[in-house]
Amino acid sequence: MPQSKLFTPVTIPARSGAGLALRNRAVLPPMCQYSIDKQDGVPTSWQLVHLGSRASGGFGLVIAEATAVVPEGRISNLDVGLWNDEQVQAWKPITQFIHSQGAAAGVQLAHAGAKASTYGWLKELEEAGKTGSLSEADGGWQTVTSSPSELYGLNPAAEMSREQIAESVQSWADAARRADEAGFDLIQIHGAHGYLIHQFLSPLSNQRTDEYGGSWENRTRYVREVVSAVAAVWPHDKALGIRLSGEDWVEDGWDIEQTVRLAQELYTLGVRAFDLSSAGIGPYHGPTGPGYQVPLAAAVKAALPQDAFVTAVGVITEPAQAEHILVTHQADGVSIGRAALGDPQWANRAAKALGAPGATPAQYWRGRW
Ligand SMILES: Cc1cc2nc3c(=O)[nH]c(=O)nc-3n(C[C@H](O)[C@H](O)[C@H](O)COP(=O)(O)O)c2cc1C
Repeated sequence: MPQSKLFTPVTIPARSGAGLALRNRAVLPPMCQYSIDKQDGVPTSWQLVHLGSRASGGFGLVIAEATAVVPEGRISNLDVGLWNDEQVQAWKPITQFIHSQGAAAGVQLAHAGAKASTYGWLKELEEAGKTGSLSEADGGWQTVTSSPSELYGLNPAAEMSREQIAESVQSWADAARRADEAGFDLIQIHGAHGYLIHQFLSPLSNQRTDEYGGSWENRTRYVREVVSAVAAVWPHDKALGIRLSGEDWVEDGWDIEQTVRLAQELYTLGVRAFDLSSAGIGPYHGPTGPGYQVPLAAAVKAALPQDAFVTAVGVITEPAQAEHILVTHQADGVSIGRAALGDPQWANRAAKALGAPGATPAQYWRGRW
């Protein structure tokens, strides 16, 4: 059997130094855990186990869930954050454990904008009818956005002033500095799924008439400022990434042509890791099914210099399917979400299926599963 591409090591370049070496191209994408019962954004033993078990499960890179840069940027009050030092200290043992298992540690920095202040996506909350915007009694807060929109079906968000935009850009940089101190190797800026950055990018949600709305240059100004501010403080020898929605899947919305142009621009600002998801503004109108977002990754990969690390995500569940995406040069890596929730050892099992040496933990060797 030829050597598996999925299990061929790869390096995500940094702006200086050796870059981030990954033992393989299987990535655990960020997945909200809605588990911070104290509502203080401080990660707990749940994050250690959730991320740690996928690190020991053989993934090359594990990325922590949407981690708010400011408290009001949380999707729910059960989210994690990186807006203070207590959170930095709590992330440290988690990144250390990930490293001890041979994986790299990434964090998705996030601001939910108009989609903040909602109930966490938990069965017990849904059964109690607690969905959508958090009530005031449950601690809801005023959300902010590019420009108010009915598209989210949530409590109305306030339009950000220029001063608020400038403060917000600074808060991404502050969180990036804390991510470095916490021991993360890679930042993935959350620019997808209808959250704040995407709220600026999409013509569906951005009706501003100042320099942050209207033309492509104006709608992309906020993300370019965020990336520049993060790049200014994030160590040059660490890897910088972004997740983008490649399509709104709506006519006259944000689309793959605009995404490709943005990816090229962000590459020049130092971004080297690109994860291509889609949608998030308004109801979903796109395709579904195995690998449905892979063409978005393929389009971005074809337009970027060869050293960019482009990952595909979305219903990639089988080792052979992942291998096919890579050997046909549609992406450089694959993000495995729900399949990895069901099987923390997904990557080690995929290695076995593809005839590659896995990273089975020493503790499990006697079991030889
Ligand atoms: C429980 C859960 C939480 C998620 N939270 C996030 C998140 O924090 N940030 C994000 O960008 N995507 C999030 N997603 C989307 C996943 O990262 C991934 O893109 C999506 O599940 C599609 O990949 P899959 O088909 O392999 O699961 C979440 C998905 C799930 C199932």
